[in-house]
Amino acid sequence: MKSQKSIDPAALELLPKAALDGVETVWDRYEAQQPQCGFGSLGVCCRHCVQGPCRIDPFGNGPKAGICGASADVIVTRNLLRQVAGGAAAHVDHAYEAVEALELAAKGNINYSIADETKLQQIARGLGLEVSDKNKADLALEVVEAAYADLANHGSKPVQWLMVNAPKERIAVWQSLGILPRNPDREIREAMHQTTMGMDADPVNLVLSTAKQGLVDGYSGLKLATDMQDILFGTPTPVVTEANLGVLKEDCVNLIVHGHVPLLSEKIVFWAGKLQEEAILAGAKGIQVSGVCCSGNEVLMRNRIPLAANYLAQELAIITGAIDAMVVDVQCIMPSLAKVASCYHTELITTMPIVKIPGATHVPFTLEGADDTAQVIVRKAITAYGRRNSKKIHIPNYKQKIVAGFSVEAIVSALSAVNPNQPLKPLVDNIVNGNIFGVVATVGCNNVKATQDIVHVELVKELVRNNVLVVATGCSAHALAKAGFMNSEGTETYAGEGLKAVLTAIGQAAGLGTPLPPVLHMGSCVDNSRIGDLVTALAGYLNVDSASLPVAASAPEPQHEKALSIGTWAVTMGLTTHLGVVPPVLGSKAVTELLTNGLSDVIGGKFYVETDPLKAAQGLLEDIRSKRQKLGLPC
Ligand code: SF4
Ligand code: FE2
Repeated sequence: MKSQKSIDPAALELLPKAALDGVETVWDRYEAQQPQCGFGSLGVCCRHCVQGPCRIDPFGNGPKAGICGASADVIVTRNLLRQVAGGAAAHVDHAYEAVEALELAAKGNINYSIADETKLQQIARGLGLEVSDKNKADLALEVVEAAYADLANHGSKPVQWLMVNAPKERIAVWQSLGILPRNPDREIREAMHQTTMGMDADPVNLVLSTAKQGLVDGYSGLKLATDMQDILFGTPTPVVTEANLGVLKEDCVNLIVHGHVPLLSEKIVFWAGKLQEEAILAGAKGIQVSGVCCSGNEVLMRNRIPLAANYLAQELAIITGAIDAMVVDVQCIMPSLAKVASCYHTELITTMPIVKIPGATHVPFTLEGADDTAQVIVRKAITAYGRRNSKKIHIPNYKQKIVAGFSVEAIVSALSAVNPNQPLKPLVDNIVNGNIFGVVATVGCNNVKATQDIVHVELVKELVRNNVLVVATGCSAHALAKAGFMNSEGTETYAGEGLKAVLTAIGQAAGLGTPLPPVLHMGSCVDNSRIGDLVTALAGYLNVDSASLPVAASAPEPQHEKALSIGTWAVTMGLTTHLGVVPPVLGSKAVTELLTNGLSDVIGGKFYVETDPLKAAQGLLEDIRSKRQKLGLPC
């Protein structure tokens, strides 16, 4: 077991308070679970039928097959496919909601605008739609129609969002493997069917279907969601704000948005601005909205809302005693929050029909009633402010200045200051000459099995020291923001000389007056699509397969099924994808070998599992070095 719970000083300061207040946290429950089930950890426990549960003895003395005859290889791959399909389902559901919102906005049925007509036109053109002379509502409806066509496609046509956005060389590879997804709902249904009792018993076929789910996630989940959200709310541009629990303000109403879909949190931000006077009448200085997980990242990227906490510290945010209301939408919301909130004056508010928590107040969110819902929620926070117990309040005084908002468009715009005609050229030239050794995307969660944030921070420290440019999303971005990697001081402190020179030159050319940060915050988990777009653009510019680029991915502390589906997508893009927590596959030697080695011959990418962040950094540097060598670049 790990020795320390967190490296975040704010978390470390609050843990004794949690104990003093008699509040159980995720770390207590983790300890209570020890030792965790060895069969489950290795992925060799099956509950896919009621003859089971069955388990395979990994040491070879006990059963080698389940009651039906399923081997360890089959059980491990079936479990993995279901997990990855679960992650893809979450993202496709998210994207679906965003498509519906755009449809209703375009029809004028809801009070949401179409904020980014340029992005709308760019997406429409990509889909092959005629753009000229159309008003934005009509064009948006055509884009919505194309999205619905993907989501309801009954034939064998591959997902259009993939066909128009993925690198051409990759599409050819996926086609040759027979893994181009059709309608995403059908693919997810098929994965459930394929893995039920008495179905597929071929581990290779099951791994290929897992790769297909990665593509469902990447294009019908991540990419579709980001596209819709950028059209509705605007494509992010650089913003300056702060991260960590020190952003909470003791004299303000503190309202936290937590979850993933920004349809409500955008409204909360708007109404918190409008209702400041009511908060002042209630005795506060105003309303401070801050974010947890990816709803936090979404409103950070577009509205400069500060980040309060990442996944593992969501309970600790409430334990400050200073949160008046926490409003949650979907995904990564610990059911424990209701119990934690009950120990303070905090109002925990659930909003979605598929996320209800006994003990929380449920304020149903609908697109039609979004403004009313947001006002009700902001007013609940103001009312709760009056119930505060000042003796229970402790806000750790830790926060870091951060620059975020690095959409691909924002990165290209900064690079255009250096070369307006070929904006990617300065980036590529510096990769070629070795000033930038490579690019690594760090994504995903915290996992209680690792000391909070340590894998993110120590891995990235070593990478940027070796002149690797890091782009980050999700809770990885939170971790790196809190640790000081998202401001120009971070460039001075952590970046190697080559990287520092490039970041300084771009910062100057773009008129920022300071270097760009060594880690670029590209947004929420669905915004991993932005990283995909960047990789696709680089491959396109160089006219090479993305699998040959000196680019890698890492989920340093993955916990969610979504992290597995995102990671699988990264592998299908041809990237070596590091996981800093061991996934439940080790019960099958053959499958582990396939995922971490054999797969690269077939698809170009592979998983790389390493829990030690320094060793992982060396492994990723080695991977980048070998890709540079193959491209004939200096190593
Ligand atoms: Fe056991 Fe097979 Fe049923 Fe799984 S599907 S529980 S291995 S009998
Ligand atoms: Fe997320």
